[in-house]
Amino acid sequence: MVVEPRSCTKDLRPPVYPPATGEMLRMDANTNLYGANPVVERVLAAGGARDLNQYPSGTSDALRSAIAREFEVAPEEVIVGCGSDEVLETIAKAFLDPGDVVATPSPSFVMYAFYGRIHLGTVVEVPLREGFALDVDALLSTRAKITFVATPNNPTGNAFDASGIDRLVKQARGLVVIDEAYGAFCGQEYARTLRRDNVIVVRTFSKSHGLAGLRVGFGIGPRGVIDRLMAVKTPFTVGTMTERIAIAALADGAYVEESRRMILTEKPWLTERLRSLGLGPRPTDANFMLVDVGRPARPLVEALRKRDILVRDMSDFRGLANHFRVTIGRREHNERLVEALRAELGR
Ligand SMILES: Cc1ncc(COP(=O)(O)O)c(C=O)c1O
Repeated sequence: MVVEPRSCTKDLRPPVYPPATGEMLRMDANTNLYGANPVVERVLAAGGARDLNQYPSGTSDALRSAIAREFEVAPEEVIVGCGSDEVLETIAKAFLDPGDVVATPSPSFVMYAFYGRIHLGTVVEVPLREGFALDVDALLSTRAKITFVATPNNPTGNAFDASGIDRLVKQARGLVVIDEAYGAFCGQEYARTLRRDNVIVVRTFSKSHGLAGLRVGFGIGPRGVIDRLMAVKTPFTVGTMTERIAIAALADGAYVEESRRMILTEKPWLTERLRSLGLGPRPTDANFMLVDVGRPARPLVEALRKRDILVRDMSDFRGLANHFRVTIGRREHNERLVEALRAELGR
């Protein structure tokens, strides 16, 4: 007997992540290439791996309190998850009835549409306008139950105009999720400033804190909304050590500041070198950039892979057939990329 899966999942395939082996330089996942965050060793040295025979707090109470203190909200206005991915999914899980509209700009972070679909929503992708600008009117006209907006946006890299975000959150009929995974790289602080009944601001420790492997992110929103999320969230998804390391990372702004400074220095350097190779780097407010190759980017992405450099092919994204996306790294990473491109392009 063949048991049929849910019909909304039939077209989906298990994900395939490129193996990262040996000397592979991973510039494909918008992670923090500044290096290891020293808080991890510090927490371990202080006995942070003790008592792992017990479960963590089911609701990550210590970390919720630490985030609440940092962002001047109540712990009940904070949810913590296994990466901001889990927070995003929990929002879909808590608020979607079958057929409810989920709106998201396109291109944007693919998981918004994914969570919308597997939680039986009707996903409406609203194309970005010229210059990757947000089409606020088109988003509002969807009358979505949930609107997901990343600013800075992934994969385009740009932060959206603040007045557009302001209008969106004021006029939207449903929930608006402002995902500022990359906010720290441009000094954006919606998590500190945006408080509305219909808004959840989502952040992650994966990018500016350099802790992608730890898997922890959080959302800040009104108590009633967070209460609904906590009611359906899978418990115990944030481990004891993860919680301790995240608390230590919050208290230590040095790593974030140093990686931010690295991005601000390396962005113009890399932009200039890519231009001199005849490529078209797009302006960015994040720790990655889109690069226009002027012809299909896939062969170049494959050639870089053979040189042990991973960048992300964007051919499957709306309007980005000729682009790849690359994480901005330390100078040695960026030099290695530029040298490989120079060799491949024969320039
Ligand atoms: C815009 C955006 N939001 C959320 C995430 C998920 O981050 P994590 O689950 O590692 O917190 C990513 C990851 O690339 C992202 O680009």
